[in-house]
Amino acid sequence: MIKVGIVGGTGYTGVELLRLLAGHPDVEIEAITSRSEAGLAVDELYPNLRGHYPGLAFSEPDPERLAACDAVFFATPHGVAHALAGELLERGTRVIDLSADFRLKDAEEWARWYGQPHGAPALLEAAVYGLPEVNRDAIRQARLIAVPGCYPTAVQLGLLPLLEQRLIDPDHVIADCKSGVTGAGRGAKVGSLLAEASESMKAYGASGHRHLPEIRQGLGQAAGQPVGLTFVPHLTPMIRGIHATLYGRLTNDPGDLQALFEQRFADEPAVDVMPAGSHPETRSVKGTDICRLAVHRPGDGDTVVVLAVIDNLVKGASGQAIQNLNLMFGFDEMAGLQAPALMP
Ligand SMILES: NC(=O)c1ccc[n+]([C@@H]2O[C@H](COP(=O)([O-])OP(=O)(O)OC[C@H]3O[C@@H](n4cnc5c(N)ncnc54)[C@H](OP(=O)(O)O)[C@@H]3O)[C@@H](O)[C@H]2O)c1
Repeated sequence: MIKVGIVGGTGYTGVELLRLLAGHPDVEIEAITSRSEAGLAVDELYPNLRGHYPGLAFSEPDPERLAACDAVFFATPHGVAHALAGELLERGTRVIDLSADFRLKDAEEWARWYGQPHGAPALLEAAVYGLPEVNRDAIRQARLIAVPGCYPTAVQLGLLPLLEQRLIDPDHVIADCKSGVTGAGRGAKVGSLLAEASESMKAYGASGHRHLPEIRQGLGQAAGQPVGLTFVPHLTPMIRGIHATLYGRLTNDPGDLQALFEQRFADEPAVDVMPAGSHPETRSVKGTDICRLAVHRPGDGDTVVVLAVIDNLVKGASGQAIQNLNLMFGFDEMAGLQAPALMP
């Protein structure tokens, strides 16, 4: 049994960690922080957790208490893990950061996209990008994990087989993505109000979203060269879910694309390649750590279309964070992550 802390326990990814870890056989929660709700019982704010964490209450972030944990998750806005991760790592606590703080390898690029200096550039070399389908061995040895963003998870998983095999033009890749409103977090914002977000759909960040450099970094590693990506995210009126429609121009005879995808992910517990001709639905992954993929080649032409769906709060955040924890501590990779999706 290991002791785990969560910084940022009242947010959507923080409470999702709690929901998933309630079914984990090897983890107990030592500390869960909130500055605004310190002292409040966790199940008073989240009644779905009643009976799972008796006596557990939110507390102020306390470095002493966090350092007593084997691992600490940061489910906080960017910049928070920069300030605390170094001290925890020095004291032997492993850190799994769900924010963007350690995802980009270039501190200056990070500063440009996030509008503030990088707060812990010395830690970047040790940080491992926590996409198990690419970095499983490094994750096992890691002490600091940068959990990939939600859009970057769906886009990279969908494009990896094509770029690794050099089958598409790397200069012209398109990712047309849709997200549910929980992607914006639990904080009150006008754009997330029911009357603003329901019965409507809109693009945002079309000329440059913060996930763009992260996706380019990962795709570039897969392709072995820079990738020219057009990435357009959209807000859709659903609570959870990401749907990525990915387009690439074939440059070589791809052979059997379905077989390529099935082989690439044959041993991946969190990726499901659907049968040929499928159109995966976001609801088929709701609450799960699974990415469902389908590959199409319309009219046998030179464009390949990949459809990828994930739950932004699970494979796109907290579930993937737990997958990383499991690898770091030698547990079953999918411990706590086995329940099937909620349908309908
Ligand atoms: N939502 C998603 O789908 C998603 C997916 C992938 C990654 N992420 C990333 O995961 C992180 C958390 O996202 P979220 O959606 O769960 O956010 P959220 O709902 O806005 O929650 C943020 C949490 O952080 C705490 N917090 C805020 N400022 C803090 C500070 N300075 N020090 C300590 N705690 C602080 C808040 O509690 P108090 O203010 O009470 O302390 C709250 O519990 C973000 O970096 C986000 O980009 C989110």
